[in-house]
Parts: sequence; C-alpha cells; structure tokens
Amino acid sequence: MRATARAHANIALVKYWGKRDAELNLPAAGSLSLTLGALTTTATVAFEPGAGRDELQLDGAPAPEPARARMSRWLDVVRARAGTDARARVISANDFPTASGLASSASAYAALAVAASRAAGLELPARELSALARRGSGSAARSVFGGLVLMHAGDSDAAAFAEPLEHDREWPLRMVIAIIGGGAPKAHGSRDAMEHCAATSPLHQGWLASVPGDLAAARAAITACDTDALGRVAERSAMTMHASAMAARPAILYWQPATVACLHEVQAMRAAGIRGYATIDAGPHVKVLTEADQAGAVAARLQAIDGVGEVIVSGIGGPAVELEG
Ligand code: DP6
Repeated sequence: MRATARAHANIALVKYWGKRDAELNLPAAGSLSLTLGALTTTATVAFEPGAGRDELQLDGAPAPEPARARMSRWLDVVRARAGTDARARVISANDFPTASGLASSASAYAALAVAASRAAGLELPARELSALARRGSGSAARSVFGGLVLMHAGDSDAAAFAEPLEHDREWPLRMVIAIIGGGAPKAHGSRDAMEHCAATSPLHQGWLASVPGDLAAARAAITACDTDALGRVAERSAMTMHASAMAARPAILYWQPATVACLHEVQAMRAAGIRGYATIDAGPHVKVLTEADQAGAVAARLQAIDGVGEVIVSGIGGPAVELEG
C-alpha cells in the first residue's frame, strides 16, 4: 500500500500549448522533449484505509490547497482503476527549488504515477503509466521516459501517451538553464494560460498549425543526431508559442528584461561560433540546448547577464523509476 518513485523534469523542444479536452487533459497537438538528469522529484504514496482525505506534503510543508485538491482529483483516477477508496498520504520533494518557477509538475506527476500505481497494486505498462501521468499534467506523460521523448496528441485517454525516441546514446546534449526573476512565482500557471490563449489569441490556430512540421523536423534532426537542426526547431517552437501568448487578450508576457538579454546573448554566441539554441517555458527562465564541450562557455556567458541568478547545466536524464523501501 506504499511505494516511492523518482522522476526527472523535462524541457519541451517542441512545445505543448493547448488542449483538446480539459477533463481528460488531452493535448491539442503532439510535443517532444528532453528529459533532464539534473532535476528530480521523489514522491512517496501510502494508501491508508480509514484516512479521511488525501494529504500532500511538498518540500517538507503541507501543500497549498489547490495543489492538494488537484492531486486528490488525480488520485481518484488511480483509485477507480485499482478498485479502492482508500485515501493517501503523499510526500513529494524536489531537488531543485520549487519556488524558482522551474516546472515541477512534470517530474512530480511522473513520480506520482509510478508510486501511486505501485502502492495501489497496479502493474501498468509504460504507455498506460504515461497516460496516467498525463491526467495529472500533460508534460508529465513525457517524464515517465528518459532521453528524447515524443508525446502523441491522441484523441482518447488511451491514445494520448508519450514514448522514448531512438537516438545515439553517445549524443552529448546538454541543457543550460538560466534562472531569472529572483525566484518570484510566475504570474500565470501554464494550465490557465493555455486555456486563455486558446480562447483569445488570434495566433493560437497558427501556433497549432506549426506543430506537426516542427515535430517532423525535430524527429529528422534526432535521427541524424544533428544538434543544430534540433536546436533551430526548439528555438522557433518556443518563439511561436510565446508569440501566441503575447497576442492573447489581455497579453500573457512571461519574459523579463533578463529573458530578452539572454535571447540576444544566445544569438551573439552563435555569431561567435558557440552552438546554443534557446527555449522558454511558462516563465522567465531561458534554457539553452547545446553540447557538452560548449556548455561551460554558454553557462559563463549567461551567468554574466544582469538579472540571471543560478545557472544549472543538465545532461540527459533516465526514466522514472520505483525506489526500494
Ligand atoms: C510551456 O504540462 O504544465 O511547459 O497539462 O495543464 O498540467 P497541464 O500543463 P503543463 O504545460 C506545460 C507547458 C510548457 C510546454 C511543455 O512542457 O511542453
């Protein structure tokens, strides 16, 4: 009735930004990501027959009520599948600051999917685990797997899962993460923001129309082990997503001055022969896709920018796993 699991965060190279179905949390399009070795969540789930309600402890403190209630609704899906009505005590901890605004729902719900299904006595195949994680958070479906991961749009609960892509195991990809904004919580959660964009942005349809071509180009780059081609797709996918967000009414602007400064610096780096490509999620931080031999130079140049706090260099992470004990 109790299990612990660990999962890594991931950064989308082709973004997920829009839903087909909010209730089942089906994405409106596919996406593609890199799992990050440096950022992990460890979650323990213990079902306790007789307990009054689900409890969630996050980084050592009781979770805010919206996070607890969201997890509780997700646990209902696990309970329905396992045929139990026991409530659970859940402990979740990130090895990176939750308040930094780095996405934590992906690693959290991937770890929760493994831990909760095992604690409930379910033996789910990887695709079903991925679909279960998606019910908690769309990006979490990808964190079930390591390496480069493709999320299928899927038009049903069972069809919307992620799967790992074949790639050269020696590929020295790195993600350099520049934390911006002094850890201030982000203004718009991705869930509400993508709904607002779908409802009000005149660019939303254009954004969605750009995804299949970017997915095809990213997959071709992965097959060819071509970092520059993959980086170019990642950068244009992020820019297109943010253009749609900025065109929403009212606008959603995640960028801080340091975000823009990092984007210019990445262009200057490329002009100077350093191969790095920027991506940005639902927050101000800039993540730069590069290779191991350039990561130190990229990190040093981003670190020198006013408004950039910590800089983290991450390699490729593995799949979500159950831990002993
Ligand atoms: C910008 O997975 O957080 O990071 O499914 O509503 O939980 P929900 O959304 P979420 O959205 C992630 C948005 C993104 C892009 C991405 O990771 O693909």
